Amino acid sequence: YVIGVDLGTSAVKTLLVDRDGMVRAEATREYPLYHEKSGWSEQEPEDWVKGATESLQELVRQSGVNAEDIEGISFSGQMHGLVLLDEGNRPVRRAILWNDTRTTEQCREIERTLGDKLLKVTRNPALEGFTLPKILWVRRHEPQTFEAARRFLLPKDYLRYRLTGEIHMDLSDAAGTLLLDVAGRKWSKDVMEAFGLSDEFCPPLIEAGGEVGTLSADAASATGLSPNTRVFAGGADNACGAIGAGILSPGLTLCSIGTSGVILTYEDDADADYRGKVHFFNHGKPDAFYAMGVTLAAGYSLGWFRNTFASGESYDSLLAGVGEVPVGSGGLLFTPYLVGERTPHADSVIRASFIGMDGSHKREHFARAVMEGITFSLNESVDLFRAAGKSVDTIISIGGGAKNPVWLQMQADIFNAEVVALENEQGPGLGAAMLAAVGCGWFPSLGECAQAFVRRSRTYKPDPASVKRYEELFRIYQNVYTQTSLLNQ
Ligand code: XUL
Repeated sequence: YVIGVDLGTSAVKTLLVDRDGMVRAEATREYPLYHEKSGWSEQEPEDWVKGATESLQELVRQSGVNAEDIEGISFSGQMHGLVLLDEGNRPVRRAILWNDTRTTEQCREIERTLGDKLLKVTRNPALEGFTLPKILWVRRHEPQTFEAARRFLLPKDYLRYRLTGEIHMDLSDAAGTLLLDVAGRKWSKDVMEAFGLSDEFCPPLIEAGGEVGTLSADAASATGLSPNTRVFAGGADNACGAIGAGILSPGLTLCSIGTSGVILTYEDDADADYRGKVHFFNHGKPDAFYAMGVTLAAGYSLGWFRNTFASGESYDSLLAGVGEVPVGSGGLLFTPYLVGERTPHADSVIRASFIGMDGSHKREHFARAVMEGITFSLNESVDLFRAAGKSVDTIISIGGGAKNPVWLQMQADIFNAEVVALENEQGPGLGAAMLAAVGCGWFPSLGECAQAFVRRSRTYKPDPASVKRYEELFRIYQNVYTQTSLLNQ
């Protein structure tokens, strides 16, 4: 067996996977998000360690397998989150997460300082969610805290450090820091020097499939795993989501709806030039890359809606009636900018809206409008890829958005593409388990592992009448951004 750990934004999920790619057990632990001020989003690194330890413990216990038969473990993690460590590798403050948008000023500073080099070297624009702006924010606003910091890690790298005692960062996650020379696959000395960051500040880099050692004796006894369990670095959640959906060769596109939502396309080399309109990162597959557009509040929007208007209810009950609501939610339209938006607006100030409310609307109209608004936002990314010359005909859908057949059909209709669901879909956690499976020598490559592990189930085809209606609504949706951005000026 191997284990995949997905350190997400709302919860950590662990999967025990057998040699046929079947999930034999899974366990989840949730943890809080702290929003102390508008635009802020933080987590307590200790909550990740506690949640992962408990979840692994439950996984081993529940599966009933012998711990010695669990050969390897690897990780997938929420990207970009800043974990600053002191001399003794203790966090100096809470982690600042990918959906925290306090760093607009630092983004402008990065653009001024690096000029053309920014896109050339890091292959990405300076966006609030990325890690370097967060480092500069702490240095500027919490100088004493920064003084104590010796190095930084990303969330899943910190968790892995706590389970092994080894400090590394994998390339697919390092790509989201704005400190990596993405095509050169190394820390950019130019960028580090431009911001006065020392070599020690950036951890040693490793491939997502690289082996870092075994579990520490403490971690083994706390989780019930064997200290002989081999540990592989793991990757960014979006890279792992791509691996777990078999997005490992050109022409494949992924739609992943978790807390955030992404549209991601595989890239064989770093030649494509999207001029910073979408993110461009290293894949978890060695030497490969991917381009991606991001909706900040995807599942987060639905979670917010449920917590605010249907507290205590399950998603199943919240979404029970949405299939009966017509395409377009009876004129109700939602824009999902609860925490600002990345693609295509790169706007941390914009906020969400519901428009077109009618006295006859019920809760299910609102729930459907939220799903449509999230999908419209993702369609902006699909449009960007098409405009750049990519054909987006088939999209593999994973995450929360792939659990609901109404939503899958909606994706096919809004994206005007065939949408494929996977059997036993497990999101990025499966990709992490695949990194461990290949690391343990079960397969010679991730591609061969995907052939064995990734099984397609149903294909949802676009319905011409719904496609047409959604095209009209999408144009209105796009206009809402322009109008509502005036509210925040
Ligand atoms: C990607 C991003 C999010 C997080 C979510 O750039 O910020 O998708 O990785 O975990």
